[in-house]
Amino acid sequence: MSKTWTPDSWKRHEAKHLPVYEDAQGLAEAEATMANFPPLVFAGEARALKARLADVVEGRAFLLQGGDCAESFAEFHPNNIRDTFRVLLQMAVVLTFASKLPVVKVGRMAGQFAKPRSSPTETIGDMTLPSYLGDNVNSIEFTPDGRRNDPMRMIRAYSQAAATLNLLRAFAGGGYANLRQVHQWTLDFMGRSPWAERFKDVADRIGEALDFMEACGVDPESVPQLKSTDFYTSHEALLLPYEQALTRQDSLTGQWYDTSAHMLWIGDRTRFAGSAHVEFLRGVGNPIGMKCGPSLEPDALIQLLDTLNPAREPGRVTLISRFGHDKVEAGLPRLVRAVQREGHPVVWSCDPMHGNVIKSESGYKTRPFDRILSEVKGFFAVHRAEGTHAGGIHVEMTGQDVTECTGGAVAITDEGLADRYHTHCDPRLNAAQSLELAFLLAEMLNLEMTERQKQAA
Ligand code: TRP
Ligand code: MN
Repeated sequence: MSKTWTPDSWKRHEAKHLPVYEDAQGLAEAEATMANFPPLVFAGEARALKARLADVVEGRAFLLQGGDCAESFAEFHPNNIRDTFRVLLQMAVVLTFASKLPVVKVGRMAGQFAKPRSSPTETIGDMTLPSYLGDNVNSIEFTPDGRRNDPMRMIRAYSQAAATLNLLRAFAGGGYANLRQVHQWTLDFMGRSPWAERFKDVADRIGEALDFMEACGVDPESVPQLKSTDFYTSHEALLLPYEQALTRQDSLTGQWYDTSAHMLWIGDRTRFAGSAHVEFLRGVGNPIGMKCGPSLEPDALIQLLDTLNPAREPGRVTLISRFGHDKVEAGLPRLVRAVQREGHPVVWSCDPMHGNVIKSESGYKTRPFDRILSEVKGFFAVHRAEGTHAGGIHVEMTGQDVTECTGGAVAITDEGLADRYHTHCDPRLNAAQSLELAFLLAEMLNLEMTERQKQAA
């Protein structure tokens, strides 16, 4: 690893999963155009998120991160943004109530376009074409022209991200996030759901808490925090030309920030020592995430942490484990112990999605809800045993009523997957499944908090 970092020093490192652009001139033009675009986020906001994540490290907050596996140009619609945001807020209310901790809300939104693929090509019938790499690289359409890597797509991705972020900011600050309203949506929704009985008690208690506060004069009019929230954006920093073009030096501190999102993460396939992606992210001041799967050895993890967070700044690194429901309890403890031993301050977050993909009998890529839940349970059990804070959850979800993951209280079956299977990449939890997961998570968080109080007493 070279000592001096520059926004393009990643180019001297081994890059995996980066597209090759035939049109070098076009790439240079797209990069030059983007370099003049306004930053999407301000460095001060990224620092604020880092401070919130430092609270999670200390066990004083919980991280909720969620959104599409891959955003797409085709599904770009204000209703989609609104519905995903709304479900995230509903989840956040339930989690806040259960844990009595503030929930840090981070969307996988406004920039989650690029995908690493296991195979560089895809074959359908007797035609073989390059794989779809995400809407900011090529098209999902299975034609030679569609699968051509087009640098101009980055410009379109930027503009979609800008418009998405603009709407999210308006929602977060403009009254849409009103706690009363968010809770009312949950009640309306539960009225129609078969699992309402099970979670009615929690929902009622949230309502009572709001009523009580209102009677005391604490309401959204007198206390503005009740009608607004801080919402942050994140995506995998995979397409490095895009990230580099949006990387700017903060005028206040002189530090470099990747201004394409507040938080960026490194995927499980690009987090190896010496990787271009690690090199790029080590130099920006944003809070960063790293996916940790079963192939990550404790020593390698510690080396990566030393590279990414040499100053051991709390809130800088979030480790997002994704082992699979049957591997988490065997695999995660060695990582947790190594990190504890070395004294690296990290947020531990659980991605129960990526280790639990199966092919259904009907041929769809799916994720059974009970496996997702079982990985979350395993994650909490490991942290309880190790005495560390189960700090967050990272989910692929949507506010739409899709049928992509099987199971849940509404019980989507194998045959039902075909009804509304819309994802551009991995199967997502739908609105009902997301909310159900939040209630189940609430039970686990509640347990952690009760345990903590007992130990303090
Ligand atoms: N501002 C507080 C927070 O963000 C309370 C709040 C307002 C809230 N609207 C919300 C919490 C919506 C969760 C969801 O935590
Ligand atoms: Mn995915």
